[in-house]
Amino acid sequence: MSTNPKDWWRQAVVYQVYPRSYADHDGDGTGDLPGITSRVPYLRRLGVDAVWLSPFYPSALADGGYDVDDHRDVDPRIGTLDQFDELVAALHGAGIKLIVDIVPNHSSDRHVWFRQALAAGPGSPERERYVFRRGGGADGELPPSDWTAAFGGPAWEPVGDGDWYLHLFAPEQPDWNWDHPDVRADHLRTLEFWADRGVDGFRIDVANALTKDLTEPLPTKAELAGLLDGSHPLFDRDEVHEVYAQWRELFDRYDPPRTAVAEAWVPAHRRARYASPEGLGQAFNFDLLKADFDAAAFREVVTDNLRFATEAGSSSTWVLSNHDVVRHASRYALPPGTDENAWLLSEGKDPAPDTAGGLRRARAATAFILALPGSTYLYQGEELGLAEVADLSPATLQDPTWRRSGGEQKGRDGCRVPIPWTATGPSYGFGPGGAHLPQPAWFADVAVDRQDGVEGSTLEFYRQALAARRRLQTTEDLTWVPSPEGVVTFTRPGGWTVLTNFSAADVELPAGRVVLCSGPLRGNLVPQDTTVWLEDEPA
Ligand code: GLC
Repeated sequence: MSTNPKDWWRQAVVYQVYPRSYADHDGDGTGDLPGITSRVPYLRRLGVDAVWLSPFYPSALADGGYDVDDHRDVDPRIGTLDQFDELVAALHGAGIKLIVDIVPNHSSDRHVWFRQALAAGPGSPERERYVFRRGGGADGELPPSDWTAAFGGPAWEPVGDGDWYLHLFAPEQPDWNWDHPDVRADHLRTLEFWADRGVDGFRIDVANALTKDLTEPLPTKAELAGLLDGSHPLFDRDEVHEVYAQWRELFDRYDPPRTAVAEAWVPAHRRARYASPEGLGQAFNFDLLKADFDAAAFREVVTDNLRFATEAGSSSTWVLSNHDVVRHASRYALPPGTDENAWLLSEGKDPAPDTAGGLRRARAATAFILALPGSTYLYQGEELGLAEVADLSPATLQDPTWRRSGGEQKGRDGCRVPIPWTATGPSYGFGPGGAHLPQPAWFADVAVDRQDGVEGSTLEFYRQALAARRRLQTTEDLTWVPSPEGVVTFTRPGGWTVLTNFSAADVELPAGRVVLCSGPLRGNLVPQDTTVWLEDEPA
């Protein structure tokens, strides 16, 4: 393992905190920065290297905080800048780095520049900071194109004077015009603002959007389909890397350099430029979110991504859960190929989840990725084995996806429910008040205080895995070991062997001393859905 402090991120375990749902200190139902600070001892004990905070900036919450009013401030419901500084100090005091989320594709419609743009009217310089276009038809009553937004509905919103603005996400999230020097300069100020406050790195939201080609005539939605080679006018354009090269100069002015990880849903072969050391430095690999729990699928994802990372001059990343997807304990509880949205719409009943099997596979998959070279991104609550809260009633849903899709997409609230710290008490220890999304009764059984110190609990399994990983992690090398069908085995330098049994048949333990197992062994046999780590016995 590199001992250069500059390389801390290469094989870090990063724990994602969704601030509104982590810990609520003041009891208003929304998690806050003092709440997170109060949990730093917990995070230290868990053994994570870094915390990534999803947005905590002032926001009307049209998209869970990814609609940012002011990128250099804290939402008053979440805290203050002083409390942010306290959190940084507490994390750093515990040896934990901090990554914050940067949302550069869009602001919120409450951003001062957007309000100025609306007030200034068509053709004004203020409108040039966003993507305004004249509507079609006699009075501009038709959208400039037929494009649709990610959350459903049209991607253009009229403002009542013949102009329409582009929003790839919700209408409350107007897209910035990245050709505008003010937009570039303002984002550099934002990065500097947080870097100067001690932030160690950045997670870049929708990093593959930003720069766009809106040369007219605009193509139709049908014409956009399948443009995956950099020629799409909205996504993954080569010019975006000029932006990140500039950001990299800023990052490298710090010691150690600030880091960044791109959220870029691009084809794997287009990922390298985001992850390059001249760019953001690292990019999320979401391939395991789409892969079945299957030996061949997992092995292929690992092989490809280790190669992509090497080609990019970066380290690979591994992700099983985040705030945008169904929790992996639930994904693995459903038969392969299940339509997750249909399952959510059935309130988690159809098909009936195999809850125990899902957790078993989730633990095995987690132990598998934690043993890989590269960094692992964990999502709050997965260390408790939390399943998706699939039966949230429509009236409680907050995700714009639900409303914007006309109830066709249930959305992402089921993985954003405030997590349970205690088996009893208001909001299961989330805070002294309620919780902003309803928590199910089964949260009592999986609360932190139910698992703390309990051998075999998911929480203790994560603690043990992170401690062992810290001890065993060496250089970023991996060697596959021939294995029976449905079994994946690899070794890492320094005598670390890892085996995952995806098959129905028990498989014999390889040689070595067992240091971790994701579930009980059967004597000398590793049962189905189990990962085991072994260390060479001293000669
Ligand atoms: C990213 C975020 C997601 C958000 C979207 C728009 O994909 O992870 O939560 O809704 O960007 O900002």
